[in-house]
Amino acid sequence: VKSSDPIAVFDSGLGGLTVFRAIRKHLPRENLFYFGDTAHLPYGTKSAETVRRLTLGHLEFLTRRRIKCAVIACNTASAVALQALKRRLHIPVLGVIDPGIREAIVATRNGRIGVLGTATTVASGAYQRGLKNQGRRIRLVAQACPLFVPLIEEGWSRHPVTEAVARHYLAPLIRARVDTVVMGCTHYPLIRAVLQRILGSNVRLVDSAFAVARQTGRSLREMSMLCAKRKRGAARFFLTDTGGSFPLVAARFLGEAPGKLTAVGLGFKVLAKAKLA
Ligand code: DGL
Repeated sequence: VKSSDPIAVFDSGLGGLTVFRAIRKHLPRENLFYFGDTAHLPYGTKSAETVRRLTLGHLEFLTRRRIKCAVIACNTASAVALQALKRRLHIPVLGVIDPGIREAIVATRNGRIGVLGTATTVASGAYQRGLKNQGRRIRLVAQACPLFVPLIEEGWSRHPVTEAVARHYLAPLIRARVDTVVMGCTHYPLIRAVLQRILGSNVRLVDSAFAVARQTGRSLREMSMLCAKRKRGAARFFLTDTGGSFPLVAARFLGEAPGKLTAVGLGFKVLAKAKLA
């Protein structure tokens, strides 16, 4: 592995471009791969086992293309597949959950933290476990927000319906008087303004995307693996389905035209054979 080899940013779809963008901003010289499993999106409603199987398969594909480390931008995949990835792959693998937790612990004054995530992320208990390992007495309120991803994908980030849904999801956090809330999903930074308005300006919102970008920089520095090149790094995109309006959405997320795009053909396996009556 060379320091000029790319960092792979993995997500279930295009939402992980929030993480890609944060890494690009923080580490502009790095070569980056972005992999979005658009054929299987969303992960947030699927079983842990399915998310793990998909994530492992795609990361093996990426490691065959020589990457120096992998960032699992998807909170759902980080919640249920990170340990398996760390065991299986021979490169550093970073998830978004621990960096988000660390920032939240530093930010909170009253020790009451809220986490917003997909149904699978919240059900996995990953945030709950991660906070327990930090050793500090923290009260955690974890809230699944299954309607946020489709609303954001639909471009309804500022729609009154999204505001009403957000009020519903945030009510238990407000009741618990949390002073810090982790946006535990790739998509939520896009409704940051709505969340902040409902929670009030005294509540600190933690963006896992920036937390993991900083963590990636620290980890690469410690290993002396930061890319030494002077020019801006290259970006390459892999998607398992290109049916959507990728260049358009990507440009909106990135503020720049996306680089080279490769559609990844998937070899589907027959998992179970059923006899038809
Ligand atoms: N990327 C997922 C996450 O951060 C959200 C979208 C999905 O459900 O696949 O949890």
